[in-house]
Amino acid sequence: MLNAPLPHPVESAHWHPVAALTEVQAQPVAVQLLDQSLVVWRDEAGAVHAWADQCPHRGARLSLGRVCAGRLECPYHGWQFAPSGQCVRIPALPDFVPPAGHAARVFAVQIWCELVWVCLQPGVAADFALQGAQNIQDSGDAQATQATQATQATQATQATQEVQGTQGTQGAPDATVHSSARPLPQFEAEADARLRKINCGPYDVSTSAPRIVENFLDMAHFGFVHAGWLGARDTPEIPDYQVEPTPTGLVASGCKAWQPQSNLHSTRGALVEYRYEVSGPYTAVLTKVPEAGSTTVQGWRESIALFICPMGPERSRVWFRLAVADFATDAAQLQAFQHTIFTQDQPVLESQRPACLPLDVRAEAHTAADKASAAYRRFLRQVGIRFGTC
Ligand code: FES
Ligand SMILES: [Fe+2]
Repeated sequence: MLNAPLPHPVESAHWHPVAALTEVQAQPVAVQLLDQSLVVWRDEAGAVHAWADQCPHRGARLSLGRVCAGRLECPYHGWQFAPSGQCVRIPALPDFVPPAGHAARVFAVQIWCELVWVCLQPGVAADFALQGAQNIQDSGDAQATQATQATQATQATQATQEVQGTQGTQGAPDATVHSSARPLPQFEAEADARLRKINCGPYDVSTSAPRIVENFLDMAHFGFVHAGWLGARDTPEIPDYQVEPTPTGLVASGCKAWQPQSNLHSTRGALVEYRYEVSGPYTAVLTKVPEAGSTTVQGWRESIALFICPMGPERSRVWFRLAVADFATDAAQLQAFQHTIFTQDQPVLESQRPACLPLDVRAEAHTAADKASAAYRRFLRQVGIRFGTC
């Protein structure tokens, strides 16, 4: 049933990244979110849409079709759908005016951090349409994005929570657009003009989103998985740190690790202080500051956001958004460092069994060094996240 309620109501109330904005050009793109097949496409005005990837006529995949004259055309019988989702042309009956029921299933979209975010909760897309909210954003190349970043940065605090209005202006804050969906996850560094933003990924990972978040919060693996980079086998101790629950997850602070090569510009091993924040069920942010004088870039600091699309319970698409105090280095070099680190994590992540994150404390063994992970599991249990957990 095209309009049947979707499973996973708790997870569906959150916004999830499904594609890089640059990926969504002239052709429709097929993506998966919470086991749902979606088609993401861009209309003539530049707005991005996310619909169920299933034609209301005979169920063909709309992502196999094409965009023509600002409409999405089904590959099977050529029905054409306007950006609202309404079918406006049935080639076999050119004079027929399709009724309201001849429509694609439409979901709400926001553009943020150069990614397309979708909320599957029923009704949210309609709220957006009522507000006249559009998600138009220039999908120009990374260079152009960087060039405009500094000037846009003062507006960016609002942008993190806003739906984009007409091109170049900001619309109403997310919280006022609708009440049923959760806000977009926070990433404070996005608003900081002194930090340059670069996306890395996507990485398709054969495990659940919560296992990936937990790995991101975990410091005790540094000396083994990232030996010579973020840790060393002979300095594996994790000093005590603080963990506080928050409405969106948790904050872990005072986390310290000795790292041989904590970033691209490290000149020597250094003690690095980390702060972690879980900003939603499948998103987290780390901020790290190395000892003064341990990098070639003065005042080096960085924040990294982990954004995950939970495609299936054990299948995830991952992006990292780097925010670094470095406008000089090639983006490719900064991405390569992150790539090295994550591809060290990936095989271990994919080896974990079960792939879903066990929320029963008795299911796995724990130590004090794992208290951020324990707090994350408690949070997921409290808010009722089932997708990717067991
Ligand atoms: S299945 Fe899409 S037009 Fe017939
Ligand atoms: Fe790691």
